[in-house]
Amino acid sequence: MDFRGKTALITGASRGIGKAIAFSLAQKNICTLLLVARDTKQLRKVAMDLEQLGTEVSVLPLDLAHPRQVHASLVKALRHHPPIDLLVNCAGIAHQRQFIESRLQQVEAELMINLLGMYTVTRLVARQMVRRKQGHIVNVSSLMGKVAAPSMATYSATKYAIIGFSQALRAELAPHNVKVTNLMPSLTQTDMVKDMRRFYGVQATRPEQVAQALMSGVQRGHHDILVGWQSHAAVWCDRFAPQLMAQIIRWTHPQLPSRSRPAAPYSALPTAGSVPKMVSITGPSKY
Ligand SMILES: NC(=O)c1ccc[n+]([C@@H]2O[C@H](COP(=O)([O-])OP(=O)(O)OC[C@H]3O[C@@H](n4cnc5c(N)ncnc54)[C@H](OP(=O)(O)O)[C@@H]3O)[C@@H](O)[C@H]2O)c1
Repeated sequence: MDFRGKTALITGASRGIGKAIAFSLAQKNICTLLLVARDTKQLRKVAMDLEQLGTEVSVLPLDLAHPRQVHASLVKALRHHPPIDLLVNCAGIAHQRQFIESRLQQVEAELMINLLGMYTVTRLVARQMVRRKQGHIVNVSSLMGKVAAPSMATYSATKYAIIGFSQALRAELAPHNVKVTNLMPSLTQTDMVKDMRRFYGVQATRPEQVAQALMSGVQRGHHDILVGWQSHAAVWCDRFAPQLMAQIIRWTHPQLPSRSRPAAPYSALPTAGSVPKMVSITGPSKY
């Protein structure tokens, strides 16, 4: 893809992988960038640095955890912005915790931001791309969307979902000349993982390496882009020797400190007083 004269919208562009992708695109002479994240100050700082490279940059502070507001704000923003040629759905969050100790609020946040937020942005931009009969959508999944990891059950589920979503979208949008690419980084040194316990032996990459892998993958027309040899080895092993992969995961996954008492997972739900009583519809139980 020749990025000259093109416009890209990047979510999660204030930090980490999204920010690195924004800089790679600027270095490839993209004309205009629209950057999305929550932190306005940080977005403005990134925008100022990108403008030094000659790119026109607008920032759009949005919280993807609120899809209806995202929809309304994005509709307005797209009216006053050049049409989007490239959408990079990069915003995401992850909570590392044993599933049985997971908290509903965190699970909801992962589902809302990683999936519903991405869905909302994609739907609006894809419609515009279909009307123009051109465009490219990059969805940032993860290696954990191919090989799921203990202590990351909900996160892995969202990243598997992104791969399925991308595959379906690719087939749907191909007749309209809109391409869909799935980027699957492995462990990358960003804020997301700084407090996480890591898998033993996994080499961390830098966000710039992920951005570089995206650029060369897109250039070569790859649909699914893995980053680093360890990711290729893990996917290969999971496919052809799944029992060995399961064993490797058991050996390498980090032990998380267990709580003495599991956290109440549904603490955000109504209290016991407002929960309806269970009604038997089969008559009194024999037991
Ligand atoms: N780091 C890794 O090891 C790794 C590995 C595989 C895949 N990934 C994926 O790569 C993507 C980027 O992750 P990263 O490592 O670069 O993480 P990061 O450094 O924590 O950056 C996350 C980005 O998402 C934005 N974001 C978070 N919550 C948001 C919300 N509610 N609304 C709008 N924007 C929000 C953040 O901006 P604000 O805080 O300003 O909103 C930030 O720009 C994610 O999808 C992640 O799943 C990461």
